[in-house]
Amino acid sequence: MTIPLRTLNDGNTLPAIGFGTYRLRGEEAITATGSAIENGYRLIDTALNYGNEKEVGEAIRRSSVPREELFVTTKLPGRFHGLNETFEGFRESLEHLGLDYVDLFLIHWPLPRVDKYVDSWRAMIRLREEGVIRSIGVSNFTPAHLERVIAETDVVPAVNQVELHPYFPQGELRRFHAEHGIQTESWTPLARKKSPFTNEKIREVADAHGVTPAQAILRWHVQLGTIPIPKASTAERQRENIDIFGFELTDEQVESISSLEEGRLWGGDPDTNEEF
Ligand SMILES: NC(=O)c1ccc[n+]([C@@H]2O[C@H](COP(=O)([O-])OP(=O)(O)OC[C@H]3O[C@@H](n4cnc5c(N)ncnc54)[C@H](OP(=O)(O)O)[C@@H]3O)[C@@H](O)[C@H]2O)c1
Repeated sequence: MTIPLRTLNDGNTLPAIGFGTYRLRGEEAITATGSAIENGYRLIDTALNYGNEKEVGEAIRRSSVPREELFVTTKLPGRFHGLNETFEGFRESLEHLGLDYVDLFLIHWPLPRVDKYVDSWRAMIRLREEGVIRSIGVSNFTPAHLERVIAETDVVPAVNQVELHPYFPQGELRRFHAEHGIQTESWTPLARKKSPFTNEKIREVADAHGVTPAQAILRWHVQLGTIPIPKASTAERQRENIDIFGFELTDEQVESISSLEEGRLWGGDPDTNEEF
């Protein structure tokens, strides 16, 4: 299966869909990540705080796919915000993964009360210059956080990974990203907390194309221009989720899914949510 590529503002490319690993632990993390790679995923999303970087690294080593064909993302947790702390946190991730470099490193949450995300960003710029990170980005940043980072460093994040699904399409933030050349990534793209698979509008769109509701939702992400990173523990679901490049939703169908907007499902307001 050929997955289309997206080009970031630093010229690097990444696949239009990735594999999320949150909640996968231990042996299951190795098996599920390995199976995702076998089933065609090349973008793998992990984080220091998921406690599975070692397993993700092990799955990569066991896989027959060359390292350079994979796009590995990990994230800096709150306890490592600050200039030197970021170097330290990144080294820890790299050591866990057992890799020489990561393709994308993100600040996991902005933690505005701590007020050190700009220092972390400066550290990440240095790490990118050293070649141990290919692309740098952020996660859960609002336009205000992005504007500050850009104003203080002149370096625009390549990616902002945010909560985005049919119940929270993030129209305003996506427009801001488009204006600034920032690629949107969608976390919890299937809205797992409020399983939308029985929703009538989503079923209608899925039925019109003879696909599953999950495929209709993931295709919606692709057509919005965002990169979804669904997590699935079985090979069957992994194959289902990546098989979304053989059909196209009409503008009306995209609109119909977007009209389900309600708001955040997790209460993870980036201005107040703190994770260390
Ligand atoms: N940056 C952040 O702050 C942040 C926050 C949250 C998540 N993330 C990232 O985003 C990734 C995805 O988010 P998520 O894991 O929360 O939610 P998700 O990918 O939207 O949903 C995952 C859930 O949906 C189920 N599922 C997957 N494919 C399915 C299908 N085809 N049919 C039916 N059910 C299906 C999975 O079941 P099974 O696992 O049982 O197959 C799992 O319970 C995470 O893994 C993580 O990498 C980032």
